[in-house]
Amino acid sequence: MITTQLDQAIQVLTQNDLVAIPTETVYGLAANAYDDQAVQKIYQLKKRPAHNPLIVHLKSVDDLAQIAQNIPPVAYELAQAFWPGPLTLLLEKQAHISDVITAGKPTVAVRVPNHPLTLELLNKLPFPLVAPSANPFGSISPTTAQHVFDYFGEDLKVVLDGGPCGKGIESTIIGFVNQQAVLYRLGSVAVEDIEKITGQLTSVLHNEQAPEAPGMLSRHYAPNTTTYLTDDVLGLLKNFEGQKVGLLRLKNQIQSPLVAYQEVLSESGNMPEAAQNLYAALHRLDRRGLDVIIAERMPEEGLGKTINDKLERATKKA
Ligand code: TXA
Ligand code: MG
Repeated sequence: MITTQLDQAIQVLTQNDLVAIPTETVYGLAANAYDDQAVQKIYQLKKRPAHNPLIVHLKSVDDLAQIAQNIPPVAYELAQAFWPGPLTLLLEKQAHISDVITAGKPTVAVRVPNHPLTLELLNKLPFPLVAPSANPFGSISPTTAQHVFDYFGEDLKVVLDGGPCGKGIESTIIGFVNQQAVLYRLGSVAVEDIEKITGQLTSVLHNEQAPEAPGMLSRHYAPNTTTYLTDDVLGLLKNFEGQKVGLLRLKNQIQSPLVAYQEVLSESGNMPEAAQNLYAALHRLDRRGLDVIIAERMPEEGLGKTINDKLERATKKA
């Protein structure tokens, strides 16, 4: 059921069942972080491999020390700058944080989401929430309550509707090696903005053998329709004559009889707006019965980098 009633969400979560929650990034599939059986249900419903750990969502940075320990000063600086907001920190976990959440790792992922309804929910609950994105493993993340409902239907008791997600792409993930910040996942906070605090970041984005953050698995966030990413949309288009082709473009539509359907992410080329629209556009494209989707590569800076990273994981290389 889709609802805006917090009471219903509180009731279900308190009974240790799952609720989809709105955040500023994407919708999350939430459970009581202190109940292992509830947390297990997340892995079952998502069909998520057990080695892929979950993010703990807190109501405030004040609760951080209950979850993590030996927190580097720069982590607090980042929390200060970006929470509530789309930044996840990987920190040494407190001993009581369950292996079910961390997949047996010594670290725990944590963030304070910036959505009024979910912050109100967290403030009313006596426990934090663990939540991965509310999509089956490997599918496009949901940015509306309806997307979540389309994925899980009545298998999920409550989808708390907080409207379309303002950011539209997952949180940026930062970990620490010898107290130095390291980039684990590109996300809604531009790397450049984090580097104003940390200095230049090293990144461990493409460790596919032993994915530290399996958001790094190469095929992820994928539409069912075969999708290509290219700098040369017009050039690639010619290869698919006679097929039903959908386009994903940054700014303007292409006038061509070869195009069956197209999505423009931001008429003005505004990157935050493009990020906000990305997954909803991919969801729509994927439902059009197209033979192929061609996505245009974004300018490689700021959130453009993040969008390109998500598209690369969703696509075949052209
Ligand atoms: O914006 C977001 O981060 C959304 C909303 C709902 O908060 N959540 C989200 O969760 O994207 P999920 O589970 O789809 O992605 C979290 C990523 C996964 O790739 C997971 O492997 C990684 O974070 N992760 C979580 N805990 C980790 C840990 N202890 N060490 C390394 N990676 C971790
Ligand atoms: Mg996810």
